[in-house]
Amino acid sequence: MIILKKATDLKKWLLAKKQLGAKIGFVPTMGALHAGHISLIKSSLSDNTITICSIFVNPTQFNDPSDFEKYPITIEKDIEMLEQAGCHLLFLPSVKEMYPSGLQQTRQYELGFLEIVFDGEFRPGHFQGVCMVVHNLLERVMPDNLYLGQKDYQQCMVITRLVELIGLNRHIKINICPTLRETDGLAMSSRNSRLNPSERALAPVIYQTMKWVKEELKVGDISSLSKAGATELTLKGFKPDYFSIVDARTLLPVAFWDGEQKLVLLVAAFLNEVRLIDNLLLNE
Ligand code: PAF
Repeated sequence: MIILKKATDLKKWLLAKKQLGAKIGFVPTMGALHAGHISLIKSSLSDNTITICSIFVNPTQFNDPSDFEKYPITIEKDIEMLEQAGCHLLFLPSVKEMYPSGLQQTRQYELGFLEIVFDGEFRPGHFQGVCMVVHNLLERVMPDNLYLGQKDYQQCMVITRLVELIGLNRHIKINICPTLRETDGLAMSSRNSRLNPSERALAPVIYQTMKWVKEELKVGDISSLSKAGATELTLKGFKPDYFSIVDARTLLPVAFWDGEQKLVLLVAAFLNEVRLIDNLLLNE
């Protein structure tokens, strides 16, 4: 696997490949890779001739400085995992390389409703930071296919909107890949490594509660289900930011279900210092 740190080197390398007609798949990450990331790499490998992964812990998307400082960094292990998976190129830029004119925001991305609900509400500025870095990365890589994990459901919607806003929706296909789970149901996440053993033992309660909601879902008033789920998490020791059943396409709240509307359950909850997010499509 080739490792490049400079955007100019990446551009040269990509130009040569694109001239030969290569189809480029791209998996942007913040490192601390796990099997979920590798499943995105594998999807890209099967759809494209070249697979590029980026690892960049993006400072502009952390609304909480301590979350940024504590973000796990496991670069050697990440490189090993990418090599084993068969990834062709790792782009590993520095902050200066990604933000040559500094971290201040120069463009406001019009994300509308997406920016004021759920992670938009609880992590102010987070999605603008995601847009800044993904815009920057997409301009450098110009992939044919972009791979994102469904675990970050709202982020997938934000990036889809971003790709429209920057006029790349006819060039880049967005592929949303299923969430990978540990055997006990906990969604794989880089942040899981920050859980201590007792927190780790408790963490699958999120998935268990989501599954319970899916089983209980019936046509009619469903508002009590979200409340019951949030209460269950609180009783077990979580501090939920949200536990909400919403329209899977718009993220608008749904209190009454007609049995047809596509629903997704979105969850974010703290276990002490660690914030976990997850989601479940309730009627796929
Ligand atoms: O999901 C992530 O790891 C990040 O938000 C992303 C998309 C790589 C942007 O920094």
